[in-house]
Amino acid sequence: MQNFVYHNPTKLVFGKGTIAQLSDLVPTGLKVLMTYGGGSIKRNGVYDQVKAALKGRDLIEFGGIEPNPRYETLMKAVEVCRREKVEFLLAVGGGSVLDGTKFIAVAAFYEAGDPWDILAKNAKPTRALPIGCVLTLPATGSESNPIAVISREATREKLAFSTPLVYPTFSIIDPETHYSLPRRQVQNGIADAFVHVMEQYLTYPADAPVQDRLAEGIARTLIEYGPKVLRQPRNYNARAAIALCSTLALNGLIGCGVPQDWTTHLIGHELTAFYGLDHAQTLVILLPAVWRHQKRAKRKKLEQYAERVWEVKRAKDKAEAAIRKTEEFFRTGLGMKTRLSECGVGTERFEEIAARIEARGLRLGEHKSIGRKEIVEILKLSL
Ligand code: NZQ
Ligand code: ZN
Repeated sequence: MQNFVYHNPTKLVFGKGTIAQLSDLVPTGLKVLMTYGGGSIKRNGVYDQVKAALKGRDLIEFGGIEPNPRYETLMKAVEVCRREKVEFLLAVGGGSVLDGTKFIAVAAFYEAGDPWDILAKNAKPTRALPIGCVLTLPATGSESNPIAVISREATREKLAFSTPLVYPTFSIIDPETHYSLPRRQVQNGIADAFVHVMEQYLTYPADAPVQDRLAEGIARTLIEYGPKVLRQPRNYNARAAIALCSTLALNGLIGCGVPQDWTTHLIGHELTAFYGLDHAQTLVILLPAVWRHQKRAKRKKLEQYAERVWEVKRAKDKAEAAIRKTEEFFRTGLGMKTRLSECGVGTERFEEIAARIEARGLRLGEHKSIGRKEIVEILKLSL
């Protein structure tokens, strides 16, 4: 196990009826900007709950943050923050609203140039507005991590940044607010969390038994409760289990001291940027292809995963059996598409996608063995 520092400052407030606690959680006396998405919170009652909890506060609103939040939209909110002297951001929505709000938080103070440089040139912000969250879609882990992924419409880019400055100070997770999610977003959320676990787990053995068992436990819970929540959308305990899995999948804990492989996410972001595919849809298609391509390097961990997560006892090729089981989970358990061709994507832009990743100076995989040629091979395996 490698050395690590783990410091997650986000306070989690979990359970039924917890939105009412906003009155204690949001500091008094500050000018608050509430950010939200396309309006789901107005239809499911979350907006009313937030407003009721913050009655009498100096509160303004910025709605319309889209899925795969756009720089162009977020810069409008930055203007509002500067003009209105906003002091606290309250993000109410899914990962896109939370990520978009993290960008607003740093961009509001960024004066060294275009805030896009924080994403494109790795420019380091030095200050951020404090953020609180009400999470309505369990998936990304954004409610308890320092990461945001932002898209730029004009250049079809989708890039991430990470800074401890944007850890939410608190996040409220009320699983009852998840009842109104469309089936597709439930499928997406389970799949995203599952792949987050796998990208921190499925590399090579690193003498990190606690991290391994935690990752396997979250994966098994998603495999058991994912299909259950799809069958029983109003099953509170199943909703709560999925919500906790998705927070734990990407709050930094299971990735401490272990090698990681974010190949699936990095190629996936390009597929979203070019084709508009849902984030989790890209992951479900790419993960098995990455594993097949890297089967030799990942064999030991694939076999461990086969035995401990899928209880594969006897198989000629345990690694392949594990990959098949995973595909079957995505396809039958979650009801998602698992091939690019099913999403209308052909080979046309594979070279361009690989060249873009290479141009950012990135080599992917836990051994940095995945470059331009290998990315094209992985994309071909996903067709
Ligand atoms: O915009 P509204 O009207 O709110 O509707 C949203 C949106 O259309 C809807 N929704 C959310 N909560 C709902 C609801 N509908 C009904 N009832 C509710 N309770 O769901 C749709 C999708 O929302 P979105 O926030 O886009 O989904 P998700 O949470 O999956 O976030 C995806 C984004 O997060 C990024 C992805 O790349 C993508 O841009 N990621 C962020 C990460 C992070 N910060 O750590 C890591 C992830 O790997 C991921 O890359
Ligand atoms: Zn993800």
